Amino acid sequence: MKNTPINFETVKQIRATSQLPSLGTATIRELVRLVNNIEHKTGEKFIRMEMGVPGIEPPKVGIDAEIEALKSGVASKYPMIDGVPKLKVAASNFVKAFMNVELSPESCVSTVGSMQGSTAVFLVANRCNEKKDTILFIDPGFPVQKQQCDVLGMKYATFDVYNYRGKKLRTKLEKMLSAGNISTLIYSNPNNPSWICFTEEELQIIGEMANKYDVIIVEDLAYFGMDFRVDYSKPNQAPFQPTVAKYSDNYIFLISSSKAFSYAGQRIGMLCMSDKLYKRKYAGLTRNYATDEFGYSVIYGALYALSTGVSHSAQYGLAAMLEAASNGSFDFLAEVKLYENRAKIMKKLFVENGFNIVYDKDIDRPVGDGFYFTFSYPGMTGAELLEHLIYYGISAIALEITGSERTEGLRACVSQTHESQFEALEFRLKAFNKAFSK
Ligand SMILES: Cc1ncc(COP(=O)(O)O)c(C=O)c1O
Repeated sequence: MKNTPINFETVKQIRATSQLPSLGTATIRELVRLVNNIEHKTGEKFIRMEMGVPGIEPPKVGIDAEIEALKSGVASKYPMIDGVPKLKVAASNFVKAFMNVELSPESCVSTVGSMQGSTAVFLVANRCNEKKDTILFIDPGFPVQKQQCDVLGMKYATFDVYNYRGKKLRTKLEKMLSAGNISTLIYSNPNNPSWICFTEEELQIIGEMANKYDVIIVEDLAYFGMDFRVDYSKPNQAPFQPTVAKYSDNYIFLISSSKAFSYAGQRIGMLCMSDKLYKRKYAGLTRNYATDEFGYSVIYGALYALSTGVSHSAQYGLAAMLEAASNGSFDFLAEVKLYENRAKIMKKLFVENGFNIVYDKDIDRPVGDGFYFTFSYPGMTGAELLEHLIYYGISAIALEITGSERTEGLRACVSQTHESQFEALEFRLKAFNKAFSK
């Protein structure tokens, strides 16, 4: 029997019966289940870093607006599929205030989280042109979007962008897009899991390449404004959340309420297309949709079939938050900035105890501190590290499942680790390092 912070025999027994061949390939929710089981059986609390759940309260302005909407009787009515007008206008104003991009309210469509947004996009964008049947992931990325492709039976290609930063990105994209089979490219910025952020030069390259090869760009802004190295919190003034929209009209933004607004439970996000893309006609669409128009197919084809709209009250909640953010009465980024300090301290604890930060550079400057960071331990693969860490009461996910080539690494999400747990984290990391340092 080994002396580990979490009872060795109990963890071993739960792990053995977990039906997971390797933790290196386990999905986020499978890991959540495993850790829940261990916590339940041992009564010990983990340092839970496997899932990106907001660690702070939802904003009052959103909750109040939802309650008011429910009291007014919206629950009995079907919402319009593309969203309530108030939310569409609020999203259009938000995009102008924080990205300096002009979009009509018509082009801003509510979705059941960004998860539904990406599904709807894949269903339409990957069917515009018979020859273009593949989605390109600029990885590392959010694993569930690939699961969506698998479930939809759609092909995808991927590459780890860390090896192609700066000017090298042009050559790589040129090579991949010139093959002629890519319909759509997708990336998150800031990036889940690595927290790298594209530079203006890289966004320009992505835009220019997408224009050249007529590819639709999905800019996943799940962590809108959360590169805390720059203050994006002031509406209607620079600096703005960086975007490819400066360089191309072939874009779609996925704006999630989950992290930036701590609203994950209400499952609401916005899918915002450029006005040009909305109106654009693609002959290939008539194979699956009643029309060849892109925006119409997203709304009255894909979203109609998927959920027929988003719950009314959540739309009013998000509308109120976006409005308040845009008029300056609600500093949404001030609320989530606490993740920056948390990441700084947690990274320090890991490094002091023999761990390395995997994605540590944003070309020539250190990666920012935010919602996620990535780490490894010398001499171990990510899968091995994860298998060992669960005996030490620490959970994360393997970079292996994110399309990363850095298979020695794990992704840590800082949101659920409260400052009061830092002492326990330090104790466990020390014990781990003592057991494994050579
Ligand atoms: C990059 C990225 N995209 C999309 C999502 C899903 O967002 P939502 O909760 O709005 O469905 C996440 C959630 O973790 C994410 O990290």
